[in-house]
Amino acid sequence: MADQDTKIERVELVSPEDYCSPEFARREKERMWPKTWQVACREEELPKVGDQLIYEICEDSILIVRSSPDVISAFHNACPHRGRQLATDPRRTREFVCPFHGWRFDLHGKCTHIPYKDDWAGTLEGVDTSMTAVRCESWGGWVFINLDAASGSLRDHLGVAADRLDPFGFGDQRIRWTASVELNANWKLALEAFNEGYHIQTTHPQLPPVFDDRTLTFGAGLHGYMTSPAGFGSVSKLRKSPPPGDVRLIIMEFMRQQAFDVQSVFAERDVTAAARMLTELPADVSGEEAGIAVMRYRMEAAIASGVGWPEMTLEQFIDGGVVWHLFPNTIVLPGPTASLWYRARPLGRGDDPENCIFEFTALERYPPGYSPNVQKQHFKNWKDFAGLPPFLAQDFANLPHLQKGVRSRGFRGAILNPVQEEIIANFHRQLRRMMDIE
Ligand code: FES
Ligand SMILES: [Fe+2]
Repeated sequence: MADQDTKIERVELVSPEDYCSPEFARREKERMWPKTWQVACREEELPKVGDQLIYEICEDSILIVRSSPDVISAFHNACPHRGRQLATDPRRTREFVCPFHGWRFDLHGKCTHIPYKDDWAGTLEGVDTSMTAVRCESWGGWVFINLDAASGSLRDHLGVAADRLDPFGFGDQRIRWTASVELNANWKLALEAFNEGYHIQTTHPQLPPVFDDRTLTFGAGLHGYMTSPAGFGSVSKLRKSPPPGDVRLIIMEFMRQQAFDVQSVFAERDVTAAARMLTELPADVSGEEAGIAVMRYRMEAAIASGVGWPEMTLEQFIDGGVVWHLFPNTIVLPGPTASLWYRARPLGRGDDPENCIFEFTALERYPPGYSPNVQKQHFKNWKDFAGLPPFLAQDFANLPHLQKGVRSRGFRGAILNPVQEEIIANFHRQLRRMMDIE
């Protein structure tokens, strides 16, 4: 993956209005959300034909349904007769029945029954009485929707991000845990607490002793990504003392934190497998050598347990980077056995720039056919989330104060780090370009 070779020509500020202005939120609602591919749900959330759920974005309510074993469809959640929402408490169904006047629709959205149809005296024949379809495509086990019927394909939208992330085989991972919280912050501020590593040395002081926190970030078209050039077993350059010790112990502690305190890119089995280092590698092993060995131990353990391992080379693993921001509102920390996903979107009708709904979904690779029974939890206040991983609690603690600060009359705009926060600068450039704002 390319190193940071961009020539820095000027300091780039992100305007406070991007985070606080109702007018900016209104533009997003009109010009961005209805025009872009966005994650709606996981395919495994709809395991059986007739399973349905609702995805809401601003004023649009979208009904996602498994129409047949291999087809997932999406529709506007509005009855073609007089517009009543067809589903408000979605559960497995054989057909959609509107609770107002009883029009019926099959799982492909075709109208199958209209009470007193003869009243129309045959004049309905040329009228489209089917549910209004929404573009719906899948990638990596995720169902995406796009409200713009004329948009290009999902694959075209994801572009290089999909090329780099495909080897991780996210389609073979399943939900390990998932939750959503309401935050008093703009949806972009919430996302941007998770797509840069510059905050690690201050917000997560437990990490620099076991991880070199200086990351590089890049724009990649609409999307952006982060790399960690120092590699496994490196410690932060900002760390004062004591000097780094046994690299094996540094890696073990890093993996333990990620697996248990973040519930992120390692499964519990990965941590157990990595402990082979302690008996099979010398204490003065290099970080690079230990990293390659750990990868092999993890792969052997995953295959032996029946979970399997994606077909991926070491180069593909490294090229995947450590974080991807998929435009507009999804972030992934990728891994071959587990991955962590974030999604943020405006709360309610999308008119309020200072509140959002933030969701996490941790995925793990399980044996084929196995899906853990996971219930999604929702919290109106993140402080009520008793099981919140400690790392995420540290991130959330910043957010209400961040929102208040960017709203300050005295705040001139975000002075982004051109190396470690370029991913944010690129995001705002892309967003503004899409909405015709200079
Ligand atoms: S609004 Fe649905 S049947 Fe009348
Ligand atoms: Fe963080």
